[in-house]
Amino acid sequence: MFNKLCIIGVGLIGGSIARAARQNNLCTTISAYGREEDLSNLQRAQELKVIDSYSLEMAEAVANADCVIIATPVGAMAGIFKQLAPFWSEKVLYMDAGSTKGNVVTALTEVFTAMPPNFVPAHPIAGAENSGVDAALTDLFQRKRVILTPCVQTDKGFVQQAARFWQGLGSTVSYMLVEQHDTVLAATSHLPHIIAFVLVDLLGKKDEQDEIFKYAAGGFKDFTRIASSDPTMWQDICLANKQQIIPLIEQLCSELNSVKKMLQHNQTQALCDTFTYARNARQRFLDQHNNMTQSITFTVQAGGHLQGQVRVPGDKSISHRSIMLGSLAEGVTHVSGFLEGDDALATLRAFQAMGVKIEGPEKGQVTIHGVGLDGLQAPKEPIYLGNSGTSMRLICGLLAGQKFDAILTGDKSLSGRPMRRVTDPLAKMGAVIESTENGTAPLTIRGQSNLQGIHYDMPIASAQVKSCLLLAGLYAQGETSVTEPAPTRDHTERMLSGFAYPVKKEGNQVTISRQGKLNATDIDVPSDISSAAFFLVGASIAENSDLTLQHVGINPTRTGVINILQLMGANIELLNQRAVGGEPVADIRVRSAALKGIAIPEEFVALAIDEFPVLFVAAACAEGTTILTGAKELRVKESDRIQVMADGLQILGVDAQPTEDGMVIKGGTIGGGSVISHGDHRIAMSFAMAGLRATSTIEIQDCENVNTSFPGFAVLTKKLGLNISTQEG
Ligand code: S3P
Repeated sequence: MFNKLCIIGVGLIGGSIARAARQNNLCTTISAYGREEDLSNLQRAQELKVIDSYSLEMAEAVANADCVIIATPVGAMAGIFKQLAPFWSEKVLYMDAGSTKGNVVTALTEVFTAMPPNFVPAHPIAGAENSGVDAALTDLFQRKRVILTPCVQTDKGFVQQAARFWQGLGSTVSYMLVEQHDTVLAATSHLPHIIAFVLVDLLGKKDEQDEIFKYAAGGFKDFTRIASSDPTMWQDICLANKQQIIPLIEQLCSELNSVKKMLQHNQTQALCDTFTYARNARQRFLDQHNNMTQSITFTVQAGGHLQGQVRVPGDKSISHRSIMLGSLAEGVTHVSGFLEGDDALATLRAFQAMGVKIEGPEKGQVTIHGVGLDGLQAPKEPIYLGNSGTSMRLICGLLAGQKFDAILTGDKSLSGRPMRRVTDPLAKMGAVIESTENGTAPLTIRGQSNLQGIHYDMPIASAQVKSCLLLAGLYAQGETSVTEPAPTRDHTERMLSGFAYPVKKEGNQVTISRQGKLNATDIDVPSDISSAAFFLVGASIAENSDLTLQHVGINPTRTGVINILQLMGANIELLNQRAVGGEPVADIRVRSAALKGIAIPEEFVALAIDEFPVLFVAAACAEGTTILTGAKELRVKESDRIQVMADGLQILGVDAQPTEDGMVIKGGTIGGGSVISHGDHRIAMSFAMAGLRATSTIEIQDCENVNTSFPGFAVLTKKLGLNISTQEG
């Protein structure tokens, strides 16, 4: 990328940039600049081959460099800019690597009168407690975030070049405004460092210090780890960002003062509320932001086959419902085979937040201490449901008839999904639910004790809408009945019967009313056919495959994928068919087969609604054309699955044409390339399977949500024969 890279300040950060740039072939030579007093460090850097040359003269160090990175402490940068000014070149990319950005921009503006267009402020969120070039690491920036804070004056070409450079070092690049960066970092990094330093300072000065440190347990060590950081660097950072830090220190003092008062006045409840709020907020932040901070990329090498026996994780739909009905039942429900994926866990946490005691999951075992139909308690905070549409729509129905209010929130994808399909019919029952103007989450549900049963003709075939209304019907006066335009999964009805609650099914109509109670029962969750579907397609398209999927749920409202694949010529056998707790189950053997394109019968659409992403991959490998129609619903799933799959397939060289309600795919060769799953678990796993028939490597970005339905997907799939690796960043 560059001929000569010049690093100003070869410490931990500068040295690590140099090491990583060399390792990743991003430059031919590396020079360094330092002051007289840095001489021994510079010599050491050369000895370690971190740099090729150094100079104590700025002119010499930067001569002919096409990229200059200033990695000095932030306090030294103003001086460096002055020294650099006489040798400044408009063709060179300049960056810093400092932890504050406002002071860098101010210093540059002072020296150059305006922000130079070829300076891209950068902050790699990486570090270590050690300092100096000896501590420099080649992989310090691997899978770490780098924040670029370009200004209006910054040239886009240089910004792109900077982003490519950091990506080349293995980092994920994000963009922020300068001020936003400093405000966020003051709260999340600078203040915690100050607190850690101050706490150790306070305790260290106490007479009994020996005792204190001798007995310092995990909490103290965890909490003060960052007080081992470089004091000079932190003194610099704090001074540079004091404008943002001082108000935070004031807020912290006042928080500490209120805790002091709670203790002085024995305000047990207030103290407990403060701690509880903090604990829950932390859990929420972790839940919500894990996905954002840890982006996961799959890399799948072309080829391979799938062989062996495997039990894929538990059914997502049944896992959700086991928690919901188990919570509303009287007595203790034991669940086995529970899906420990983020979606089902969101439901589990939601009921815990409403006062239900739930133990586990532990190896798929969950114990629910049911509170009865009227035993739920008001949640203390909004309930966060992550990516899970099923949780939001079903819980919404359940909450409509409670004696309390609740707020349901979700991640970006869930907050964009249509909720009127449930809030409209619920409103007809007398529910009071507030949503955004677009009818999306957050949903504020004002519990009503006077819900009225209705009859609802569903305009779309949706098991979530049907289930939502049936759950609301548990609390409504009179009968609630729903008719569906096409059969959809009937797990709610089956499980209600399993809990000995009467549900009437006549043709395409289901009816429920408020009578009696749910009796706790044991639930054995079969493997999810929607997760098995990836392997049904994978083993069909990859030569020499022979795979048996054990204990898979084959409820006829879910087996559209098998019907469609068999129509395409797949070799699928159902073995050892049996019934487990009201749900049909089988082992499924699948072997490679030459698939042919078909027009997918519309009657199978609702029965295979979650499996189309991977069926599109099957179609791409089939001989001839596959046409899907009548599947508009795919556009409002976790992503717009028609568009996102068509985009990805086209990147891989497949002739895939999206239509309003489906897709036309001409089977052929799948090439390599980099595709984006848009945070949709099923898209990510589908493209992973495409690797089995690809001609070169497929990279799939944004795969973190695979954990919503299939934790351990990559590890399991690798064992079975797919050459897949995972990168976190
Ligand atoms: C589900 C129903 C389906 C399905 C979803 C799970 C359920 O959604 O796509 O993954 O558990 O009821 P729709 O009801 O929106 O079709």
